[in-house]
Amino acid sequence: MLADTAPRPRDDGLDDVDDVQRRQNVLNTELLNAELPDQRFVDESYLHWLYDLNPYGPAFQAWEDEDGVRVAHYALIPQRYRNADGPVPFVFSLNAVSRSGAQRKGYFGMLQLRVWSAARDAGILAGIGVTNARSHRGVQIMGWRMIGQMPVDIVLPGPFPPRGWQSFRVSPDFLDSAVFGEVSQGLDEQPVDGWTNCWTSEYLRWRLASPNTPPYALHVSDRLVAVSTRSQFKGVPVAVVLKLLLRRGMSGPVSGHPAVTEICRFHRAPAAVYAGFNRHVKVTGVPAPERLKPSPLNLELCSLSDTIRQREFVLDTYEFLDMDAY
Ligand SMILES: CC(C)(COP(=O)(O)OP(=O)(O)OC[C@H]1O[C@@H](n2cnc3c(N)ncnc32)[C@H](O)[C@@H]1OP(=O)(O)O)[C@@H](O)C(=O)NCCC(=O)NCCS
Repeated sequence: MLADTAPRPRDDGLDDVDDVQRRQNVLNTELLNAELPDQRFVDESYLHWLYDLNPYGPAFQAWEDEDGVRVAHYALIPQRYRNADGPVPFVFSLNAVSRSGAQRKGYFGMLQLRVWSAARDAGILAGIGVTNARSHRGVQIMGWRMIGQMPVDIVLPGPFPPRGWQSFRVSPDFLDSAVFGEVSQGLDEQPVDGWTNCWTSEYLRWRLASPNTPPYALHVSDRLVAVSTRSQFKGVPVAVVLKLLLRRGMSGPVSGHPAVTEICRFHRAPAAVYAGFNRHVKVTGVPAPERLKPSPLNLELCSLSDTIRQREFVLDTYEFLDMDAY
């Protein structure tokens, strides 16, 4: 049996999510945790946040059951991207999964056609996905264009704490605070040449409220706002740089290294991982060995509109917070 959810008016809270969607979140969480085990999928709260509470609207989703068992699922979540002409509706592609034993039956191909056509009908112009080796082959059915592999660098902090930085643990209270309200204003105003995800205050607040993920931290100087988290490799703590944003009124490019130093100091980590690229805030390090990367991190584009030409599409900035890595 095939089933989809059409986009509905957005929900503001758990009480507004109907039982049907709640039940689907439970079934899809179980499937994702079975095939892609991750602490995000310990319960359905992550999918509820991701699919039902996004300020840009509910996810486009599809799933398939065999004999009452959920065997395949796929989703697109709304985002906004902007270029010099202004913001337009995009989606981010995620949670492509078919159950072991039900793979290579064409489910992923079929679900892609269904969700992308629903997205196109809703006025979405294009979507971005970060594929691994298996899903990279699978998305050829939609004619995606590979933009490139996200670079992943190991970056060492400077020897001294940088001046003028403040760091905050992200919590529900912090996201409601006057400090967050102030520092998150105007982060989405930098002039752009190519395309960039729109980091409005509202979108950043939602993104940082992700449940079941490692705790986030926000770091603030006069020039920059940075988002990070902490991970570890073979027992050694590693800071992970998730996003670097110029504050309102600042112009780049500027060095991101003071941010990296503050992030490492805050997490008591000897080094940081930085993935992606940023036209306004520059970070250089040593490329991480391939064996340390969880997947090839193929950055790919699917255009749904003549106005977004796949071959001419250039991203100004793409970092971990733009996707669902953390
Ligand atoms: C990636 C994934 C979602 C693909 O799902 P799937 O349902 O097996 O995908 P499809 O059946 O549509 O296509 C898979 C392959 O089977 C082939 N296939 C489809 N129907 C077929 C059939 N009836 N007979 C033989 N082969 C078939 C497809 O051509 C495709 O071939 P390819 O691998 O050479 O491209 C699945 O492998 C998976 O869940 N992997 C683990 C989770 C994961 O890595 N997700 C991606 C995260 S980025």
